[in-house]
Amino acid sequence: MSGPAVLGSPAVSTVLAADRTTGAPPAIAAAGLGLTYRTAGGEVVALTGVDLVIEPGAFVALIGPSGCGKTTLLRLVADLETPTAGSLLVEGLPPREARLARRYGYVFQAPALYPWRTVEANLTLPLEIMGVPKAERSERARRYLKLVDLEGFARNYPWQLSGGMQQRVSIARALSFDPDILLMDEPFGALDALTREQLRIDLEELWLATGKTVLFVTHAIDEAVALADRVVVMGPRPGKIERIVPVPLARPRGLGARRDAAFAAVVEAITKVFLDRGVLHGPGRTRLAGVGRSGGGANARGGSA
Ligand SMILES: Nc1ncnc2c1ncn2[C@@H]1O[C@H](COP(=O)(O)OP(=O)(O)O)[C@@H](O)[C@H]1O
Ligand SMILES: [Mg+2]
Repeated sequence: MSGPAVLGSPAVSTVLAADRTTGAPPAIAAAGLGLTYRTAGGEVVALTGVDLVIEPGAFVALIGPSGCGKTTLLRLVADLETPTAGSLLVEGLPPREARLARRYGYVFQAPALYPWRTVEANLTLPLEIMGVPKAERSERARRYLKLVDLEGFARNYPWQLSGGMQQRVSIARALSFDPDILLMDEPFGALDALTREQLRIDLEELWLATGKTVLFVTHAIDEAVALADRVVVMGPRPGKIERIVPVPLARPRGLGARRDAAFAAVVEAITKVFLDRGVLHGPGRTRLAGVGRSGGGANARGGSA
């Protein structure tokens, strides 16, 4: 890999620069938004009372324990579910209209590539469905493979690529029809730590170059803080927003951000929400607490968080 420089090159910025017209409606505007699933076993309140406004071009991370409704919120934005309460607008449109107008691209946790299609054929599938002519599809495949640093892999099959490369293809696919909004559901969740770190840096650079709005779901606090302008912290079921924490760190954050005192402060603020809500517990909760080794014990290593 030749590094993330490709993603931030002026040429790429020019090609993908978002039309940041003033007075545009919020990218996403939710008010009192809720979804209760009706199942054979009864009702499941997946999301309740969500008030959230995301401005065009913002990078917002959504973090919370498993089952708190993160995916549900993305699926509502993507018109894959219908709200049972409240209102939701995507670029000022009802989600269905926004979907038909292809205002968003969706990146799933697994790359979801078809093994019998080449990288290029996977990447251009949405364009094929949209009826974009073949020559233009190939041109866009070239452009977006370059953007995610995968030039030269167009004719490969997904199974010939590493997990990180496959996820780059799926990001390129989501970008290929130039949507204003990227919905990303734990896109790096299945990757090793180093690949994750690299993709994180690349994604920041891509976002800086394109001006897209990103709604990024993660369950990793450091990933949320490293990427986002604002971290939306969700509590345990039933899913609702507990706090929205701003991240006052300069861009690009690159690899050094973690050493910034502000980084630690934001991580602590988020951790505190999870401690207060019983999602996380400091040491002293397990049966081991107080058992100790001779001459010290678990508690001798420090107090509780
Ligand atoms: N199709 C469904 N039918 C019934 N319950 C669902 C469905 N999808 C999700 N849920 C429930 O809604 C809650 C939120 O799920 P989800 O949004 O997937 O959480 P997260 O992505 O934060 O882990 C969970 O309790 C989950 O079991
Ligand atoms: Mg989920």
